Amino acid sequence: MKKVLIATEKPFAKAAVYSIKEIANKAGYELVLLEKYTEKSQLLEAVADVDAMIIRSDKATKEVLDAAKNLKVIVRAGAGYDNIDLEAATANNIVAMNTPGQNSNAVAELAIGMMIFLARNSFNGTSGTELRGKTLGIHAYGNVGKYVAEIAKGFQMKIYAFDPFIEDSVIEADGVTPVKSAEELYKKCQYVSLHIPANDKTKNSINKDLLGIMPENAVLVNTARKEVVHEDDLLEIMETRPDFKYISDIAPVCADTFAEKYEGRYFFTPKKMGAQTAEANINAGIAGITQIINYLEKGDETFKVN
Ligand code: 3PG
Repeated sequence: MKKVLIATEKPFAKAAVYSIKEIANKAGYELVLLEKYTEKSQLLEAVADVDAMIIRSDKATKEVLDAAKNLKVIVRAGAGYDNIDLEAATANNIVAMNTPGQNSNAVAELAIGMMIFLARNSFNGTSGTELRGKTLGIHAYGNVGKYVAEIAKGFQMKIYAFDPFIEDSVIEADGVTPVKSAEELYKKCQYVSLHIPANDKTKNSINKDLLGIMPENAVLVNTARKEVVHEDDLLEIMETRPDFKYISDIAPVCADTFAEKYEGRYFFTPKKMGAQTAEANINAGIAGITQIINYLEKGDETFKVN
């Protein structure tokens, strides 16, 4: 019997695991569960004899992939696959896939939720501000960016987007104004919401040249990856611009400095939780197991990323 491992340091909702198991068993696969593991050795042991695996932000390093002697396919239940060593996967004849779009609404709702939370001074009883009528820049108009725009429209925000890979007409069709450069986006928008992936080109790319040109009372919203923001530049901006605020789904490396110096001007989730909803877990988990079965049974390589 073929074995599928779910290895999630941050577990899926129970309902998602139940659905994944049901689909796996129906197809004649055994489901193995490794949740909330704390040691790398536990993951190395669990991958040793499995044919397929589903992960979240779990790190599929070369060491892990080399230890997975029977592994044929690994699915990152989610969008960003910067946690998989794609070179090692390819070298080991392992197909790597993601499940784009499946958890995007959850991430978008968190981005807007955190914006409201900070605009209302963390619900501390003092007078805050509203989102209505404010400018919002969406940096990368993929699945999450699109949902953020859809929700923000309900708040009557003025929405702009920058994405060199998407036709202007696609953005315009959603009632969003496309702009020609990141500079133009940051210059125009009081709120900027990041939706770029983390790769060699984007890491540290959100720097003081962009943050420094944002209008008064600027708010940077990061539900992408902490690595895309240049932290030294961010700290410089926080220091020189008392009107600047930063919201991030997962704390930056320099979180202690924020705690010491910038009370009330930031919010960080304790653990990455953009995709932490039952709906997102169910959608991404079901997509993951379905893609695994379709690949192993029919050679279907949809959403292969290596
Ligand atoms: C993604 O890339 O899909 C999100 O960052 C979700 O990550 P998570 O599954 O670790 O919550």
